[in-house]
Amino acid sequence: MNGAADSLERWLASAARRRSAAFLERKRHVLRPLDAVRVHDGELELLNFSSNDYLGLAGHPDLRAAAAEAAHEFGSGSGASALVTGYRPQHQQLEDGLAEFLDREAALLFSSGYLANLAVATSLAGRGDRIVQDRLCHASLIDAARLSGARLARYRHADMGSLEQQLGDASSGHTLIVTDGVFSMDGDIAPLSELSAQAQASDAWLVVDDAHGIGVIGSGGRGLVAEAGLNQARVPVLVGTLGKAFGSAGAFVAGSRGLVEHLVNEARSYLFTTAMPPAVAAAGLAGLAHVRDDQWRREHLAERVSQFREGAQQRGLDLMPSHTAIQPLVLGGEKAALDLAGRLRERGFLVAAIRPPTVPPGTARLRVTLSAAHTHEHVESLLEAIESCLDGR
Ligand SMILES: Cc1ncc(COP(=O)(O)O)c(C=O)c1O
Repeated sequence: MNGAADSLERWLASAARRRSAAFLERKRHVLRPLDAVRVHDGELELLNFSSNDYLGLAGHPDLRAAAAEAAHEFGSGSGASALVTGYRPQHQQLEDGLAEFLDREAALLFSSGYLANLAVATSLAGRGDRIVQDRLCHASLIDAARLSGARLARYRHADMGSLEQQLGDASSGHTLIVTDGVFSMDGDIAPLSELSAQAQASDAWLVVDDAHGIGVIGSGGRGLVAEAGLNQARVPVLVGTLGKAFGSAGAFVAGSRGLVEHLVNEARSYLFTTAMPPAVAAAGLAGLAHVRDDQWRREHLAERVSQFREGAQQRGLDLMPSHTAIQPLVLGGEKAALDLAGRLRERGFLVAAIRPPTVPPGTARLRVTLSAAHTHEHVESLLEAIESCLDGR
């Protein structure tokens, strides 16, 4: 018997028991997509209301063809980090396309949003600096700030008075103000104009992660920052992801040429990781063309969001003040959220129960996400199912 391995297994088992007792256990399901909104989970066919594929592009023939062509041309992997030998024409084209789309001087691709946020925080701030974040910022922004070594302060959600208070504390180095654009678990939006004014007034650098806004919000899908009329000088660091509305995977940071050059040279999560596969970049580029050109997808999505909100209101469901594709139904307890998700699943709906630490304790919820690929009937049937599940409590 190996004593160390045994003690590891005992420790793992006790952690698993703790998770299970608190209804915080997480399980993966092997899903087989049937189309943009239906999946097979074993024998069950489910209507998916938990994807971030907001425009229904992830399975689009153009993205599939672009990925296949790039894989055919350059292979499945890039083989090295971008700075060694992994940088391909597809990467460069997508970076140029994103910079132009977002009216920024340059953009830099990352393999994931998590890595992009890590890059920003750790290469722009360190010991002696501070990062001031909205309390509901995405986990990747929190982790990035912690890893940077800078002092992390958090202001009350979207509360400019609380931010001002935090900024009033003395700091020897520079300050980053960091926020989600659309908040990932609540679906509401950051007060970007006020944040930008605060940043200007206190000489802080504003970082906006608009992972759930770019592609979905604003004319042409340029996201919340463009919608608020904030240029590169007002929001010098803009983060977006390609695995949501763009239908591919990966992420980017957009800003000045100087910013991108700095990240290329200093960001460890750029330097020390294999470049995204060229097929993924090619799919991202095809996704960008649809994001730019298919205004009808955003219109369709907006109709589904209004339909869901009106239907929920008529049924007395308590929604959060969100007008985006993210429509959470807060239940409070972890077990209540899991139970409702389970009952919806029996009726053919896939809606994830989101629990701590993804959301604060006591705010477990069903995070309903809507897509341009959902029909009127899909949304109606979900509303009816939620109502009947709650009635049967
Ligand atoms: C606001 C926000 N930023 C970053 C990420 C991470 O992006 P990725 O999934 O590409 O790592 C997510 C979610 O995935 C997110 O919601």
